This record gives sequence, structure tokens and C-alpha cells, in this order.
Amino acid sequence: MSTLLKHIGDTAALSEVIVRFYDILLSDTRINFIFKNVNMESLKRKQVWFFTSLMLNECSGTHDYVKKAHQNIVAKYDINATHFDILIDALTTAFQECHIDPESSRELIKKAKSLKPYVLGDV
Ligand code: HEM
Repeated sequence: MSTLLKHIGDTAALSEVIVRFYDILLSDTRINFIFKNVNMESLKRKQVWFFTSLMLNECSGTHDYVKKAHQNIVAKYDINATHFDILIDALTTAFQECHIDPESSRELIKKAKSLKPYVLGDV
């Protein structure tokens, strides 16, 4: 098991973070319109799986996957760096509120931030 996964604890702790993360995003009018037609339960499950893979460093194909996953919505909603920063702030707050240790949080946030050009389709 990776050190990071050990620190975060278990999938239950990660699920708590993801639930809080989307609660924050869905109550923020600067970004919640992007999620209005999305099956949120399915997205939360995918996100728990995705962050677990990031923690395990099972990242092969990640960049391509993230790019494809966002291609349509980036075009549809004109998603830009400001939306990306709002999402990262929400993730940071969720980690803090769920009492995830700061070092593990920083590491995961760094991994999420590194996906920016792929999410936004800049590569
Ligand atoms: C501006 C920032 C972002 C916005 C607005 C955004 C929005 C969305 C939305 C609306 C979906 C659902 C697409 C659909 O079901 O039609 C989605 C899927 C997803 N997003 Fe993001 N996202 C952003 C950044 C990120 C980042 C940084 C990550 C990774 C750390 C990420 C990982 C994923 C994953 C794994 C999925 C599931 C893809 C699938 O359906 O298989 N997203 N995102």
C-alpha cells in the first residue's frame, strides 16, 4: 500500500472527502451549472476510484483519460483556469474539513493540479 493511501486511511475517509467536495461545488454558483445534468452518485464513485488510483500511483493512461472525460464539457461550458482553481479550492477545503493530514492533502492536490492542461484541453 502506498504511504499516501495509508495516511488517508481507507476508502471510507476518501468517500467522505469526495462527498464534501461535491457539496461545496454544487453550492457554488460560479461552477455548479456545469454539473446540472450529471449523475452525481456515479461521478462520486468514479472520483473515489480515480483518487485511489492516483494515491497508488497507478497513473498509466491518466492524462489521456482525464482529457477525454472533459473534452465535451470544456467546449460546452467554456471551462477555463478560473473554474479549475475553484475546483482545487473546494478540494482543499474538503480535505481540511475531513481532517486529512496536511502532507497527504498537499500531495494529492499537487497530483490533481498537474492534470490542469489535460482537463482544460491545452495539450
Ligand atoms: C475545471 C475543473 C473541472 C470541472 C469543471 C470538472 C467537471 C466534471 C464533470 C461535469 C464531469 C462529469 C462528466 C459527465 O459525466 O458528463 C467530470 C468527470 C470527471 N472528472 Fe472532472 N472536472 C474538473 C476537473 C477535474 C480534475 C482536476 C480531475 C482529477 C483530479 C477530474 C476528474 C474527473 C473524473 C475522473 C471524471 C469521471 C470521468 C468519467 O466519466 O469516466 N476532474 N468532471
